[in-house]
Amino acid sequence: MKKYDLIIVGGGMAGLRAAIEAVKQNLHVAVISKVHPLRSHSVAASGGLNAVIPQKDIKKKNIDSIEKHFQDSMKCGYNASDPDALQTLVSRAPGKIKELERWGCLFSREKDNSIAVRTMGAASFPRTVYSSDKTGHAIMNTLYGQCIRLRQNKPDLLRFYDEWFVHKLLVYNNVVSGVIALEIATGKMEVFTAKAVIWASGGSGKVFGNTSNPLTNSGWGLAVPLYAGAPLRDMEFIQFHPTQLSRSHVLITEAARGEGAILLNRKGERFLESYSDSKDKKELSARDIVSRNIQREILAGRGVDASCVYLDLRGLGSRKIKKQLPGVRELCKTYANLDPIRQKIPVTPGQHYIIGGISTNEKTQTEIEGFFAAGECACAGVHGTNRMGGNSLMETLVFGEISAQSAGSYIRQKHHRLPNKLFFENAYAEEKNKLQILLKTNGEVKPAEIRAKMNNAMDEFAGIYRDGMGLVEAGQIIKELKTTYMTNMLVQGKDARANYGLIEAIELKGSLDIADIIIQCALKRKESIGVHFRNDFPITKGRPRYSLVKVKKGKIKIRHIAIHIRNKPLIALFSDLRLLKK
Ligand code: FUM
Repeated sequence: MKKYDLIIVGGGMAGLRAAIEAVKQNLHVAVISKVHPLRSHSVAASGGLNAVIPQKDIKKKNIDSIEKHFQDSMKCGYNASDPDALQTLVSRAPGKIKELERWGCLFSREKDNSIAVRTMGAASFPRTVYSSDKTGHAIMNTLYGQCIRLRQNKPDLLRFYDEWFVHKLLVYNNVVSGVIALEIATGKMEVFTAKAVIWASGGSGKVFGNTSNPLTNSGWGLAVPLYAGAPLRDMEFIQFHPTQLSRSHVLITEAARGEGAILLNRKGERFLESYSDSKDKKELSARDIVSRNIQREILAGRGVDASCVYLDLRGLGSRKIKKQLPGVRELCKTYANLDPIRQKIPVTPGQHYIIGGISTNEKTQTEIEGFFAAGECACAGVHGTNRMGGNSLMETLVFGEISAQSAGSYIRQKHHRLPNKLFFENAYAEEKNKLQILLKTNGEVKPAEIRAKMNNAMDEFAGIYRDGMGLVEAGQIIKELKTTYMTNMLVQGKDARANYGLIEAIELKGSLDIADIIIQCALKRKESIGVHFRNDFPITKGRPRYSLVKVKKGKIKIRHIAIHIRNKPLIALFSDLRLLKK
């Protein structure tokens, strides 16, 4: 048994930011991650992160402010954001940029050496801070560098378990007590005990086929806390990014449109001008609108090859593309054999981000004592029903830090008594047994075949446009796939050592359960709002509600709860922020 104060599950941006704060609080921390932190999906983030940074011309009347960041995000999320969580995000954002700079993060600069900002969709001001179009890479290297520095100063406090796979979250009487994890190389399982656990497992987009998410974002990261009793919130809200490189999983960053790229249909028309909801902001309308209107254009037969439209960067000129969007150019050359300086890019909307996740409050606390969650796997309601581009990277930093502060005060406040040895021994034996059963399966269907069918069902029926009939059909397909999983699956390789087939099979159970939950939540929400667009129900006029899912005796239970709107006027909400602007 390995003993820690705090276990952080996930080595992406939220996990690393939490680790830095935890070490500062003198906690004995383990970061457990399926992949090396610098191979986590956070590294792929491109466009930037939103923060109101000091304005150059403060005499100008119309300048950006934290209130405006709040209002834009709230409007983009169709007034369904949790005001406390959103206030926390926007008010702490400027400090996070300063902090990263101090730690040596190389942000792009203007000629006068001030930090450069660009405009992302739905923003009323340019406030996205960036490092050309490789922002995730720059931030992750900075955070990992800080972790290494802290580990040198306090070697006993921080330990990374890279390429370890968390199999179970241990909870006793609704209090967290650790995790069981598998070392992928040796196939050995270990019990890790802890006074608190921070979950920062990232996205779960790979339940869809048409996604910019990597295979590691399987859905397992949401399934494990759910199995342990943590409710999930808002799982029907799936964000589609408008511009994924056609017939690939490669994202073409929104920064391209922020820098001036335009979307064209087959006839060369800038079609967003002809839709009432995108005619004003065009390519910089909110993501849900741009994605829906691209889809409409394709369905109307004006797409290219019946599956995509064009993103045209040619007007930006070669200098700007090389300076601001070198990653886009590299990706286009590598994966589509085209140069955006001279050619249009075929793009199509693709699943990008799960707005829902482990239900938390603005302090990252969950319903399980000592269990905290931050980053894409968590849902404090920051994004409402439609996330603004650039808010998610900031969310990982702000709530990553808060999660470690919350965990720190929880650990210090409470006298922690771990459950007895028998609890851990039984849990270990149970998980080991599950592995053995999987290794012995001798059916006919490979996990990859089940995954492909699940992905097709999700793409077809739970995408940008949904309806009741399609969702029922998707639910039926998932049910049948679950039966195949239980009765006729073949796990290749009969040894647990370095067996990625085994890991794939374990994760697939989580993927199927999370796919099912997305479908059931989408069916239950009989209205259209934000990214959840039902062809069979109109846009809601009612008060926004969030959904909460629990699994009880194997059955999915979903409730809708009205969003608590503060009565305080916005100005009062921000009275504590004035200091920040001085
Ligand atoms: O397009 C992008 O660079 C994505 C940004 C985001 O999802 O926030």
